[in-house]
Amino acid sequence: GDVAVLVPAAGAGLRLGPGGPKALRPLAGEPLLVHAIRRVAAAPSVRMIVVAAPAAEVGAVRELLAPVAPVTVVAGGAERQESVALALAAVPAEIEIVLVHDAARALTPPRLIESVAAAVRAGHPAVIPVLPVVDTIKQVGPGEGGGPGEVVLGTVDRSVLRSVQTPQGFRHDVLASVHGSAAHAHTDDAGLVEKAGLPVTCVPGSELAMKITRPLDLILAEALLAVP
Ligand code: C5P
Repeated sequence: GDVAVLVPAAGAGLRLGPGGPKALRPLAGEPLLVHAIRRVAAAPSVRMIVVAAPAAEVGAVRELLAPVAPVTVVAGGAERQESVALALAAVPAEIEIVLVHDAARALTPPRLIESVAAAVRAGHPAVIPVLPVVDTIKQVGPGEGGGPGEVVLGTVDRSVLRSVQTPQGFRHDVLASVHGSAAHAHTDDAGLVEKAGLPVTCVPGSELAMKITRPLDLILAEALLAVP
């Protein structure tokens, strides 16, 4: 393997409802993070896995993952971007490809991890898995007179839009340089690469790489796990 995978798992997961850090919520009897790491470790390209855990849970996460795969666990930060930077600091320079993969995308198949890594290996500095957008997307703004309802300002052409998943893959030097200079919060790491003016290349994503964010997502994920 020539790939390190950083797994930010330090979020509170408030949108999932009450119940502790999202990565440690149970899905079919096991924490989301265990499902995620098992799939990451099954990808043949992966040499190293670094998990950013909630600061209070670092010891517990080490114990939890020890039977699953060899994993380095570090304390995460207040923002996702900070958690990624802290995990990146644990990766030795000789590993040339670094993937960033949300613990919340717990059912991501190993073959998606392989396809992102392969595209970086083929020479693309930054690679993201994407899916077409299925809903109609509208831009909205406050209504006239500042009433409670929003009004539609326009409809976006969805044929040029994509939903973005993880793992996102990078040349190690590219990810290190954009994180070193990052001032603003981004919801993904490829956003930092775009800001730096480098190309970001898309590969087909997977419906199984859905982000488990809201209570309905847990129900869907349990159903997917039950499919033989
Ligand atoms: O909140 P959201 O679902 O966008 O979080 C995406 C991923 O980033 C999750 O896996 C979450 O655990 C992680 N995260 C983190 N550190 C934070 C906030 C989020 O590692 N401070």
